[in-house]
Amino acid sequence: MVGEGLTDIVIGDMETGDLPSVLEIERASFAMPWSETSFFNELKNPRSISRAAKRDGRVTGYIFASRILDEGHILDLAVHPDFRRQGIASALVAHVIEHLREEGCRFLYLEVRESNVPAIKMYGKFGFERIGIRKKYYVSPDEDAVIMCLKLEE
Ligand SMILES: CC(C)(COP(=O)(O)OP(=O)(O)OC[C@H]1O[C@@H](n2cnc3c(N)ncnc32)[C@H](O)[C@@H]1OP(=O)(O)O)[C@@H](O)C(=O)NCCC(=O)NCCS
Repeated sequence: MVGEGLTDIVIGDMETGDLPSVLEIERASFAMPWSETSFFNELKNPRSISRAAKRDGRVTGYIFASRILDEGHILDLAVHPDFRRQGIASALVAHVIEHLREEGCRFLYLEVRESNVPAIKMYGKFGFERIGIRKKYYVSPDEDAVIMCLKLEE
């Protein structure tokens, strides 16, 4: 199973105090980063699933997801550049998958830039399949999104 074996990483609910570190990672990770307000609103949204991965109390990565009825959606995921390729994103995705399965969710969706080979490879390892394309979904630079879906039912 992907994401196992990270004994020094603790995944927990994100707190407002984590936001400065989250913003720093977001800005280092995306051409069009979420704003502080977007993060704050998401954190305050009772429907939001927002988790931080910490090592020695330091935020190393995070994930935001949501659920409507039996469909989950990964909204944002990033790992600090200094902590990549250590299984942290996989641990965060595995955490969300488990949480949504427990809630009876049947499908998990996400969009990803079609040039984002690292992320697409990682999602592929979990069994996510490409189910479509959203034309020009992203800007700066303009790019299509690959829509991926994981069936959560056994
Ligand atoms: C994509 C991202 C979240 C991956 O985080 P990570 O913690 O490094 O990922 P993991 O260590 O769990 O990697 C799991 C697998 O994904 C694939 N992968 C991850 N990074 C990769 C890279 N740079 N090149 C190729 N494959 C990669 C590998 O198959 C890897 O398994 P391996 O290390 O055993 O080969 C991270 O690179 C990142 O934050 N990128 C910028 C933000 C982003 O693109 N977010 C996703 C938006 S949908």
